[in-house]
Amino acid sequence: GKGIAMVTAVASRLAAQRLQVNQTLALLQLSPDALGKVQALLRREMELGLKKETHAMSSVRMLPTYICATPDGSERGDFLALDLGGTNFRVLLVQVGSREQGGVQIVSEVYSIPPNVAQGPGTQLFDHIVECIVDFQTKQGMMDHTLPLGFTFSFPCQQTSLDQGVLLSWTKGFSASGCVGQDVVKLLREALKRRNHFALDVVAIVNDTVGTMMSCGYDDLNCEVGLIVGTGTNACYMEELRNVGTLAGEEGRMCINMEWGAFGDNGCLDAFFTPFDRQVDEASLNPGRQRFEKLISGMYLGEIVRRILLELTAKGILFRGRPSPKLQTPDIFQTKFLSSIESDGLALRQVCAILEELGLHVTSEDSVLVREVCQVVARRAAQLCGAAVAAVVEKIRENRGLEQLVVTVGVDGTLYKLHPHFAQQVQETVRLLAPRCSVTFLQSEDGSGKGAALIAAVACRVARHQRA
Ligand code: GLC
Repeated sequence: GKGIAMVTAVASRLAAQRLQVNQTLALLQLSPDALGKVQALLRREMELGLKKETHAMSSVRMLPTYICATPDGSERGDFLALDLGGTNFRVLLVQVGSREQGGVQIVSEVYSIPPNVAQGPGTQLFDHIVECIVDFQTKQGMMDHTLPLGFTFSFPCQQTSLDQGVLLSWTKGFSASGCVGQDVVKLLREALKRRNHFALDVVAIVNDTVGTMMSCGYDDLNCEVGLIVGTGTNACYMEELRNVGTLAGEEGRMCINMEWGAFGDNGCLDAFFTPFDRQVDEASLNPGRQRFEKLISGMYLGEIVRRILLELTAKGILFRGRPSPKLQTPDIFQTKFLSSIESDGLALRQVCAILEELGLHVTSEDSVLVREVCQVVARRAAQLCGAAVAAVVEKIRENRGLEQLVVTVGVDGTLYKLHPHFAQQVQETVRLLAPRCSVTFLQSEDGSGKGAALIAAVACRVARHQRA
């Protein structure tokens, strides 16, 4: 009698807990209808962002990049590239030769940008960048070569030419002072001058999405979209110039940097935000900004997971209701963690081990639940990203009046590349929401750096033609 009563009590406690877990996680589960809604909303914001009269209302900036062509294979020469704005700062030497000579060869070096530099005075940030360039050139024994430089700068910039870009706002982990509203190429040139370093010719400023599209475009002529899902998320694509109301010109196409990370900053996605998303936003460096990015990219997913775990702990469902100091530490869950905890075939024991490494003491029930939370958060991110890609490819298809569009998306970013299910879930969602587009996803190797060099190479080729 007593035994049975106990078993029944445990069973009903478990059932009640399951109900609470389901209720909590239901907020993060998106139906195909909801995803279609997101796609339609983004499509609307794209149209608003492109038109001169409505541009200011849109949360998606749709920035012109002054890239009107993809590489044609005739580019040659040595170029330097800088890549700032992802997990690492990199300096690259890119040698572009004929395909017979091996095509594009890259040597690169990774440098760290400590948070106090990323968030300190702007002059200090640019001085640091120049020190890294000098270190790299010295190591390569090429301090006295004058090289064209392509600068991959992965933040929203208003461009009026290829080699000029005014920083509109910092995103991700950056907030250096004195930069917003300034031409970033000018800031770099001034820092080079302060260091008496004159042997560099900054010829292009490039968003990482654009660099990725260009580097994939070198191998695949159908590549007309660039996608990043890493620290941040964003995309670019080839738009008809006649649709770009913010620019003169009717003929041809231009690559548009969407800055879709800011999608929803005008309130249009409010219905999709959960309390956890709002907490993550409020605690971030840029509250109210980059709301879409904060649902998707590597810099934020771990934080969403942590907030959910805190809530489940407060409800007594996880960790015996006792939140460890570890769990209260912001940013303890990195993208890497989300990827490893979802690795296929991982035994429960290994899941426990991963959590132990973070200093969380867990039962096996705990670790099952933690993994479930990670799955739900990552799946939502991938599906939202897929809905956004669907909006882009559908727009390209309609622009061209095609029944069926064949297009390639060049992709880069740690979350996309390292997470075991992310890529597949993005692709499934695109298939579902854009059935008239046949979309290939091509992962880029060294995308943003190589792309910046190719853009510099194209610029130099065009300049040579114009002089001739
Ligand atoms: C952020 C930046 C954007 C960049 C993206 C991916 O959203 O604002 O420019 O492309 O991160 O790095």
